[in-house]
Order: sequence, then C-alpha cells, then structure tokens
Amino acid sequence: MPEVELRGIVKRFGKVTASRDIDLKIADGEYVTILGPSGCGKTTLIRMIAGIIEPSEGKVLIGGRDMEGVPIEERDIGYVFQNIALFPHLNALGNVSYGPVVRNKDRKEVEEIPRRYLELVKLLDRMKMFPSELSGGEQQKVSLARALASGAKILLLDEPLSALDARVRMDLRYELRRITKDLGLTVVHVTHDQEEAMTVSDRIVLMRNGRIVETNTPEMLYLEPKDLFTANFVGETNLLEGVVKEVLEDRSLVELRDGTVVEARPSKFKSGDAVVLSIRPERVHPASEGLGAVIRCITFMGTYIRISVETDSEDRVNFDVSTSEDRDYNIGDRVDLIWSKRSGILYPRPPEGVQEAIKLE
Ligand SMILES: Nc1ncnc2c1ncn2[C@@H]1O[C@H](COP(=O)(O)OP(=O)(O)OP(=O)(O)O)[C@@H](O)[C@H]1O
Ligand SMILES: [Mg+2]
Repeated sequence: MPEVELRGIVKRFGKVTASRDIDLKIADGEYVTILGPSGCGKTTLIRMIAGIIEPSEGKVLIGGRDMEGVPIEERDIGYVFQNIALFPHLNALGNVSYGPVVRNKDRKEVEEIPRRYLELVKLLDRMKMFPSELSGGEQQKVSLARALASGAKILLLDEPLSALDARVRMDLRYELRRITKDLGLTVVHVTHDQEEAMTVSDRIVLMRNGRIVETNTPEMLYLEPKDLFTANFVGETNLLEGVVKEVLEDRSLVELRDGTVVEARPSKFKSGDAVVLSIRPERVHPASEGLGAVIRCITFMGTYIRISVETDSEDRVNFDVSTSEDRDYNIGDRVDLIWSKRSGILYPRPPEGVQEAIKLE
C-alpha cells in the first residue's frame, strides 16, 4: 500500500535549514498538495520523498517501509520535476513511453498507454517532436503525461502546471484529479498557487520557512484557519487590530484603534486582550450604519468590483460588490461597513507585529 509517511524530518543545507520537524502522513489514494511561498521548502520535501536527497534527521516511510538508502527507481514513484527535465534524446512519444517500456509492459500497452496520456494533454499531433522543439508549456505537458504513464502508484508533482496558460491549467487541474482518483494513486502536488491547491486536493499542507503551519481540507483551511498566516495566505482577508472589549455567548466585541466597536465570533479571549480580527472581503457589506470608511480605490474584476477603503480606525479594508449591483461607488465617497459576527475570526495579536507574522519569507 503506497501511503507516505514523514517522521521528524529535518533537512539542512549548510547554514540553511530547509525542513524543520516535518511530521506528515499521506494516506493510500490521497491527493495532498504542499502549498507555501517561494523558498519555504516544498521541493526539498518532495525530493526527500523521491530519494533524490536524504534527510539530515528523521525518516521517510513508504508503505510502512523505511526508505533510507532506497533509490528512486525502487520507490514506485512518478515525478514531474519543477524544471521539467525530459530526456533530450527522445521525442515526446519516447519520453512518455519510457515508463511502460522499462516496466516491461506488453507491446499493446506500450503502444496504447503513452498515446492515451499524450491525447489527454492534447499533444498527440506533436509526439514526434523532441524537447528542444517544444515550448515550455508543451514540455511540461509531456512531463505530466510521462509521470501518469509510468504506472507508478505514487505521483510527485512539483509545480506541474506552472508553465501553462490559465485556461489549460484549469482544464488540466480537473483532469489530474479525475485520473489520479480513477487510478487510485497517492499524489503529492507542490504548488505556490492557493487556488490550484484549493481545487485539486483532498488535503492541503501549508508550509512556511521549512515548517508545516497547518494541514487541513481546502474548505476547513479557508473557512476555519487556525493561524493568522493561513488566514492571509489561503484566500484573501482583511486584518484589523484591536482590543477585546467583551466576550459574550454568541459574539466577541472588539474595540478598534479609533474606538469603534465591531463584532466577531465568540472566542476564548478576555477583555483587554490584544487581537487581530480577520474578515474576508466577500463577507464585508456596505450598510447604513457600521464601521465608517472612505473609498480609496475601485477595481473592476469582471464578475465583481473590488473596493478598497480606509476606515476611520486607519485600517485598509477590501470588499467586493457584484457588477450587477445598481449603487454607484466613487473614490472619496464615505461608506459604512458591516459583517455578520460569525464571519469575523480573532487571533492573538502577534508580538512581532502583524506584518511580520504574515510575511512571505
Ligand atoms: N541543494 C541545495 N543547497 C543549498 N540550499 C538549498 C538547496 N536546495 C534548496 N536549498 C534552499 O532551501 C530552501 C528551500 O528550497 P526549496 O527549493 O525546497 O523551496 P521551494 O518551496 O520549492 O521554493 P519555490 O516555490 O521557489 O520552488 C531555500 O532557501 C533554498 O535556497
Ligand atoms: Mg520548488
């Protein structure tokens, strides 16, 4: 059974620690994405699962077996590398056929399987082309087809869609999930694109600076982020600093810098605690009375309009209104903003400051 387990993994490159105390279990057949800003250690993690590099401390187990010293070709792994890495001397078909050939599949399968996956990535008509004759995006598609055709039970995908344009990326996301679920594969998919992570995964592992910040389903990570960094990195949010005034059974009352009192969910905080209130732009609405603000910027986004305001508490808040809404908004207008108390989440105010706590390092 190809479940993957990382136990107490630390990876050091000289002075740089790229992985810190990583514990993670990926179930057989699960689709997990590793999400996080550039340089946070995603590729390092996936390379240790593959056996391209060894951890400095801790263990990688596949199917319960300790992988120390086991080379990549014995780990039953299909890999899409971040820098693509096709065999330059083989054409597209040769690249995709590589797995089935080395696995000694019969002739019919060697004929059929690579064509099936080249068709999936819409490159059948280019199968005779060599990597040097293909665009970056086409090479990435060949690389993906090669990993799928390899017959491996574990797929490691490092930014597999990054070189593709938005439309193709969306189609392939959907196909990737469908096929890997049909084949019952265990997938570890690395991306720094939170929308991609949200749409393909059973679970998202959010990383920052070599550590796992939080692991959860896409819905829970978006709706119930346990950490301020998560709230800000997964989706967009507004962060308002304040002090808890009172915690009631059904809500918390928070006093902002200018003395305005706003509502959030009930919480474990006590009055006087310094907090940060997180509220998503789609939860903020204009009303006749609420948090006073002045409109500073209006951006047309297609299906909605993004409005940026400066509140009387000197916070920047974004909110969205539907393009079909009748009301006119103009820069310099005053608006009052409200949200339902359930949608405001409170976090302890980080001692290092909010900006430092959400920084993408
Ligand atoms: N072979 C290496 N030698 C020295 N430092 C390394 C090596 N590989 C990675 N690092 C360092 O480890 C850290 C994590 O790198 P890694 O490639 O895992 O990041 P990443 O999350 O995949 O980033 P990106 O999204 O940009 O691909 C970085 O600071 C990087 O410079
Ligand atoms: Mg990387």
